[in-house]
Amino acid sequence: MPSNARDHKRPAAAPAVNEAAAWEAMLSLRRRARASALAFPIEIEIVDARLTVQADGAWRLAPEAPAAVAQMIDLYLPCALVPHRRSFVLAHLAQSLDGRIATTGGDSQWLTGEADLDHTHRLRALADAVIVGAATVRQDDPRLTVRRCTGDQPVRVVLDPNLTLSADRHVFSDGAAPTLVLVAADRAGKSMHLGAAEILPLPREGERLAPRAICAALAERGLHWLFVEGGGMTVSGFLAAGVLDRLQIALAPAILGSGRPSLQLPEIGALAGALRPRVRHFRLGDDVMVECLLRD
Ligand SMILES: NC(=O)c1ccc[n+]([C@@H]2O[C@H](COP(=O)([O-])OP(=O)(O)OC[C@H]3O[C@@H](n4cnc5c(N)ncnc54)[C@H](OP(=O)(O)O)[C@@H]3O)[C@@H](O)[C@H]2O)c1
Repeated sequence: MPSNARDHKRPAAAPAVNEAAAWEAMLSLRRRARASALAFPIEIEIVDARLTVQADGAWRLAPEAPAAVAQMIDLYLPCALVPHRRSFVLAHLAQSLDGRIATTGGDSQWLTGEADLDHTHRLRALADAVIVGAATVRQDDPRLTVRRCTGDQPVRVVLDPNLTLSADRHVFSDGAAPTLVLVAADRAGKSMHLGAAEILPLPREGERLAPRAICAALAERGLHWLFVEGGGMTVSGFLAAGVLDRLQIALAPAILGSGRPSLQLPEIGALAGALRPRVRHFRLGDDVMVECLLRD
């Protein structure tokens, strides 16, 4: 071997931009947007590529992105760029082809696949707060933390107007993230805590708490980007109240034939009364997610 051949090193191949790096870029943009107003166009390096984002959300990656990275940017960029202190409410439900989110007995783990689960954790990481109804906490005892991706923990918010849940649920006892329990003012007792969670009383509107009042109370605490994670009754209430910016329905290729319903809204007499929002479609493994753009 010639003596100089040993010393000759090939230039290392440049690391290609991948989904993990694109996700870190989305988190970085979210942190910037959360802290102060963004100045457009935004330029950000993702490994060996440069992402340029215009004020209308249009983006370009040079060199061009692989398809999986392009989908990640398409899906999460609007969520990352939500302006400083601007209200943004996104709901997500995983459902079967026949519109069920769980069996009648409440089994919902897992209807959709790994990609949709990863997606749910990413939404938690982008949000200021994640909201669920009392039945979900009773049935699933979820942690509602970010575990399948990097990112900050959102504040956990449980809607339990009648204070029916016990303090041993994970969200009230594990101390993994700050947690609020929203309770009707007429049911709140002297104690302002349920386990490690803080009780936040709100006036009742009929049997329920008005989603608009929920959003306003959370905004007062600096929580503006809200992820409504379920179940069906909770998401339906937010949709009916007109406070959702985006509704994501992940469709699993499964037919349950019976079970807990996804969305339930007041009856309409004619198809002309159907909501027909603009939509975007995303492939998540074997599932297809339809994202409804309810407000610009
Ligand atoms: N597939 C999915 O994406 C998904 C996601 C989450 C959960 N799940 C499953 O869905 C099931 C639970 O869903 P669900 O539709 O039956 O119930 P849910 O939405 O989890 O909880 C409904 C309850 O939350 C309280 N609540 C909701 N909105 C409220 C509001 N605006 N004001 C006051 N209280 C409010 C009410 O409690 P009160 O009755 O005390 O008034 C209501 O009965 C579980 O089986 C769970 O496993 C599936």
